[in-house]
Amino acid sequence: MQLRELGSSGLLVSPITLGTMTFGTPVPEKEAIELTHAAIDLGINFIDTANVYEGYSRYLGSPGGVAEEIVGKAIQDRRDKVILATKVGAPVGPGPQDRGLSASHILREVDHSLQRLKTDYIDLYIIHWPDKHVPLEVTLNAMETAVRQGKIRSFGASNHAAWQLCEMLWLADKHHLPHVVSSQIPFSLLRREFHHDLKFCEKHKIGVTPYQPLQCGLLTGKYKRGSAPPAGSRADEKPEWIWQQDGPLFDKLEAIQALADSIDTPMAQYSLAWALTQPAMSSLVVGVKSKAQIEDAVNAATVTIPEDHFAKLDEICPPPWQQPDPMRGGM
Ligand SMILES: NC(=O)c1ccc[n+]([C@@H]2O[C@H](COP(=O)([O-])OP(=O)(O)OC[C@H]3O[C@@H](n4cnc5c(N)ncnc54)[C@H](OP(=O)(O)O)[C@@H]3O)[C@@H](O)[C@H]2O)c1
Repeated sequence: MQLRELGSSGLLVSPITLGTMTFGTPVPEKEAIELTHAAIDLGINFIDTANVYEGYSRYLGSPGGVAEEIVGKAIQDRRDKVILATKVGAPVGPGPQDRGLSASHILREVDHSLQRLKTDYIDLYIIHWPDKHVPLEVTLNAMETAVRQGKIRSFGASNHAAWQLCEMLWLADKHHLPHVVSSQIPFSLLRREFHHDLKFCEKHKIGVTPYQPLQCGLLTGKYKRGSAPPAGSRADEKPEWIWQQDGPLFDKLEAIQALADSIDTPMAQYSLAWALTQPAMSSLVVGVKSKAQIEDAVNAATVTIPEDHFAKLDEICPPPWQQPDPMRGGM
């Protein structure tokens, strides 16, 4: 796979990132370690985890840590082969200091993550969600401290809009603090609300690493109208973690499937290949449960979407500016 720049970080990353949110359940430790090794062997050099990930057993405020521990074991003898990203900010307990983006929480959690990951540095430390209770300067200063201490190499943001990234860049310039280098947003053919932000990221060298580019498996072609979800799929095992499948959704999925079929490409590869063509895309954060799913993701990097498909896909899954505007009588 041809590596891509991760924004202004100076890092080169594979266009596919191994997502680890399902490490623990439904992917138990031994399989998760094997999958991680298979991903590295297939050329994936970027791993995305978070202090809170613990698979399907996650609930709001549960302590997390499971996925980081598994990743730590998996990369112990190959740390230099991977760019490691983890996240901070989501609740890891019931107390007021068990969450958020204060300096206390960030600097405590970075140490916990380092211990679980069995490493002495994190390549990319990601702010999981904005925190309206903490001044951004406080968070940026904490990131600068962690960089200076050698615990992290760079920091990124997740679930932030372009205006929030803009504020981060502005404050960093004003106070001589490090720049945000990446943005992890939900983005897929079915979820394009951050579409406008991509150009901003491109212009300001913020690498976009979208999550759920397969929309939790919906964009793989395995869910069929009128049929129960396949046994062992996410819709079967953890329906709360995937959209409900209704008629309008199947209209879109079937239309995308027809386009993928027209170039003899599996729908998962087609959907990922489309995402890779979008502005500022550094690497797609894909969740996997089997080696075959990793191979599908890796093969997406070789798929070319025909030029005339882009307008057709915009019709099936309109980007925000094409959606009906109620101020203009639905136009
Ligand atoms: N920053 C954030 O707030 C945030 C939020 C969510 C996720 N993330 C990151 O994004 C990663 C990906 O998220 P995700 O796993 O929810 O979404 P996803 O990548 O869109 O979907 C992954 C799921 O789709 C199915 N799948 C994958 N490849 C397939 C293939 N080729 N054929 C058939 N099915 C396939 C598998 O589920 P089944 O086989 O079980 O059906 C897999 O677990 C996470 O691991 C995490 O690292 C970040």
